[in-house]
Amino acid sequence: MDTSKNILCIGAGYVGGPTMAVIADKCPDYKVTVVDLNKERIDAWNSDVLPIYEPGLDEVVKRARGKNLFFSTDVASGIKNSKIIFVSVNTPTKTFGEGAGMAANLEYWEKTARNIVEFAEEDKIVIEKSTLPVRTAEAMHRILESNDKGLHFEVISNPEFMAEGTAVGDLENPDRVLIGSMENEHGRKAQQDIVDIYANWVPVEKILTTNVWSSELSKLASNAMLAQRISSVNSISALCEKTDADIREVSKAMGMDTRIGAKFLRAGVGFGGSCFKKDILNMVYLCRYYNLHPVADYWEQVVIMNEFQEKRFVRRAVSNMFNTVAGKKIALFGFAFKADTGDTREAPAIYISKMLLEEHAVLSIHDPQALPNAKKDLQGVEGSIEYCEDPYECADGAHAIMILTEWKQFSELDYKKIYESMMKPAFIFDGRNILHHKELFEIGFNVFPLGTKELTQLPPMD
Ligand code: NAD
Ligand code: UGA
Repeated sequence: MDTSKNILCIGAGYVGGPTMAVIADKCPDYKVTVVDLNKERIDAWNSDVLPIYEPGLDEVVKRARGKNLFFSTDVASGIKNSKIIFVSVNTPTKTFGEGAGMAANLEYWEKTARNIVEFAEEDKIVIEKSTLPVRTAEAMHRILESNDKGLHFEVISNPEFMAEGTAVGDLENPDRVLIGSMENEHGRKAQQDIVDIYANWVPVEKILTTNVWSSELSKLASNAMLAQRISSVNSISALCEKTDADIREVSKAMGMDTRIGAKFLRAGVGFGGSCFKKDILNMVYLCRYYNLHPVADYWEQVVIMNEFQEKRFVRRAVSNMFNTVAGKKIALFGFAFKADTGDTREAPAIYISKMLLEEHAVLSIHDPQALPNAKKDLQGVEGSIEYCEDPYECADGAHAIMILTEWKQFSELDYKKIYESMMKPAFIFDGRNILHHKELFEIGFNVFPLGTKELTQLPPMD
């Protein structure tokens, strides 16, 4: 059997599912199979209700599924029948042993390498799609080459840069595709095989080929640079609140400098998501490992600043609600870590909820997509929490609303109706700066945008 155009992806998560759906859709000559140990997830990929919410993904999956896109739990057959194997398993922060809380946990990744060795019957190209510490390809190569079947495995790094909520657009029209290989003949040949896949829809000038180590490190460094911009702007937002400057004006003024650029300068309640924190901490751990302590401290500060921003948001709210939220209903609008996803991994809303519950607030949570995950995240946490499908019900009888996710529909609600149903004085803490603050103030709210002074009906505090 000719398997050269058979692609396997191990790991059917937020990355494996969308990336492979787009590859299958754009490359009708290839057969793409996505496998996962999680049967429930695979069943969902094969059903009408996909396991993740991602705008535009349903259409792509429906076009390709059953033609050249398949989802299965049969890892062994997948490996046997595919020449090209993407590995897209999770690489979370280690929670135990050496490097706990910092280093990447590579146990899932190593298990896949061992599975490949066990089930392969011919040479393979193994592609790191997961985000991994730089030099992981070396370990991967060693495990794969330890086989006693005389097989050759070529390891390629092809990190993924898509963001959740915009995954389909990012994959269909990427800024760049990065493909790193070993610098030898076998490496370059395998690299070209992967270039050939992307060249079906990505302009060649956007396909960047490098050595494997640059590719691995570029992924960590890109996430660190993006997160650093957010922490930088959030740090300035704190200064704005003390000085009557307005972070939206400051961001705009900074961003219009073409050397700085306008993207990723939105101040907010802090960055969330499964990757920024984990990837920075992973890089910090690597720097310490290589005795680069000032470099490690520099990047760790990005995470420390993010935690400060989450805490600062809650402290500002509590102090302005007369230094107590005990027994007060607070409506959280948004729980997902960003708009257009149901994903709540490392969402600032989790930390903010826990801090408010410690202050004995009564929480009411609304999110258009993330309530099932919110329930899991707060399971077992002590305190009073209700979950509302309807934002009006969520705010009914509340003392305050906190905007924690920038869902567009939150700016389109009837805030006059909401105001009338709330306890007075009524507060809005807009942690994403998406509402019309002046209009809310005119309705009667005490409005606290982020990174600028409040619009309040109350006499100033000493
Ligand atoms: P995820 O947790 O959603 O998915 C990983 C999947 O791998 C899970 O379904 C799990 O069951 C499966 N898996 C684990 N071990 C397995 C094994 N041995 N055999 C078969 N399946 C196995 O994770 P994700 O968000 O898709 O992230 C995957 C990787 O991609 C991570 O390294 C992450 O850093 C990186 N990444 C994520 C994003 C993102 O937006 N989520 C973007 C770029 C890169
Ligand atoms: C991020 C990167 O943008 C992707 O390139 C990368 O592939 C991915 O991580 C990954 O490796 O997992 P993602 O986390 O899905 O993507 O979403 P982002 O749009 O980057 O947002 C991350 C967090 O930063 C969100 O909580 C968002 O609200 C916040 N953010 C973003 C801000 O607070 N301000 C901004 O200006 C931009």
